[in-house]
Order: sequence, then structure tokens, then C-alpha cells
Amino acid sequence: MTESTRTDAMTDSTRTYWDTRHLERDDLASGGHIGLDRPGNEIFYALRLGELITLIGDLSSPGAPLFVLDAGCGKGYFARALARCGHRVDAFDSSPEAITYACSRGGGPRYAVAALDEWRSPWPYDVVLGVDVLFHVLDDEEWRAGLRNLASLVRITGRLILTDEDTHETDEDTHETDEDTHETGQDPHESTPPGDYLLHRPASAYRRELEPLGLTHTLFRPYGFRESRAGFHVFTRTR
Ligand SMILES: C[S@@+](CC[C@H](N)C(=O)[O-])C[C@H]1O[C@@H](n2cnc3c(N)ncnc32)[C@H](O)[C@@H]1O
Repeated sequence: MTESTRTDAMTDSTRTYWDTRHLERDDLASGGHIGLDRPGNEIFYALRLGELITLIGDLSSPGAPLFVLDAGCGKGYFARALARCGHRVDAFDSSPEAITYACSRGGGPRYAVAALDEWRSPWPYDVVLGVDVLFHVLDDEEWRAGLRNLASLVRITGRLILTDEDTHETDEDTHETDEDTHETGQDPHESTPPGDYLLHRPASAYRRELEPLGLTHTLFRPYGFRESRAGFHVFTRTR
């Protein structure tokens, strides 16, 4: 593990929130859905992994692996799974707790502690992933800097796969939702931790940043998990 010290764009409270969540919750609830029990999170992760593999493609070659970056990897569920599929995976997260856990599980990926706008690489990636990360970045400047940095890491014809809700011009405004009630349909009065640190942005906000950088929005694939409105936005570098 390598460790960066420059996470100054992130507020202390954001860092504390994620470190505490990674410390207190199990390997699925810490980065998955905080309002779900373990079987629910198993299903939530498995469905999204299947969708990701469909998007990335089912080919892998030991002689020419895909170079994949998992940005905001949490405890490394997707990074490990994609390494098992034969891809060469770099993965980072701003939470030292999460990365310590991910390193202890091993399984192939190269891990580091870094924020979205900090990660640098000597090689470009075939696929850059950000699963359920950008809608947890509340500060617009930090979100923009992180997004632009991830875009810069995608090779020509490579893909940037990010998750957020599929909102359009009509419901253009960014909005906060309660992770526990909105996405699962759970009883809002049930005693579960509040869905903090969520700020969904419309697809147009992502397009506005990414299209001038040569990345075209090629598709949106919904998670298809219960009432979730979230899904994978795929951007392809065309120039
Ligand atoms: C909901 S979890 C998702 C983790 C992982 N992608 C997964 O799906 O299992 C969000 C993750 O984003 C990380 N994170 C939040 N803000 C970040 C930032 N600015 N840079 C890097 N990681 C960040 C948190 O530490 C947390 O691990």
C-alpha cells in the first residue's frame, strides 16, 4: 500500500464519516447499502458485479490483461472480483481503514490511499470505475476535480464507468436522498442510521464536465435493484 497525505480537498467530517463506517460495518455494509442486512447486500453487490462484467466485456487474456482502475474502491469487493476475472487492477480509496482491510484480503489488486483528484498513473487505463463514490462527494469543486482527474486516466477508446441516478433535464437539480428509505423502500421510521453524505447529480452535470474532455456518454444501465434509481453511466473516450 502506498499512502498519500494530500486529502485536503476532503473535509475532516467526510473523512471521519467514511473511516468510522469502514471500521464499524462489515465488508459489505461499509461500502454497500448501509440500510440493508447482509443477504440484501450480497444480492446488491452480486447484481452490480454481473452488470459491470457485462459492460466491461467477458474477454480476458493473460498476455494482454485489461488495465482497470477502481477509484473509491472501499474494501475492494469489485477490485478483487475484477482481478479474479484476469484484469490488472489498481484500486484506491481515501479511507485508510478501507485500504488496510482491502490489503489484508489480497487477491491481486494494487491498493493505495488517495482521493479522487490525487491519483496519478504512469499508464492510462482501459476502464476507470467509480462505483457509488461521486454521489458521496458533496463539494462541487472536489467533485469536479475528481471527475476531471478520473477522465484524464482513461485511454483513447477506453471507458469511464461511474454511478449515479438517471435524472434528466426535467429533474435537473442535484438532490439529496435518504439512502435508507429512498433506495430500499424501507419504513422511514425504522431505526437505521441516516443516509448521510449523499448528493445525486443529473447525467447532464457529468456530461458537461466530461464531453469537453473527449468523453461521450454512451449508455446508462440501471442497477435493477429494488427501487434504486441508480445505475452505471458509461462514458467512452473518443478523442
Ligand atoms: C459507498 S462506498 C463505495 C465503495 C466501493 N466502490 C464499493 O462499491 O464497494 C464510497 C467510498 O468512497 C470513498 N470516498 C469518498 N470520497 C472519496 C474521495 N474524495 N476520494 C476517494 N474516495 C472517496 C469512501 O471512503 C468509500 O469507501
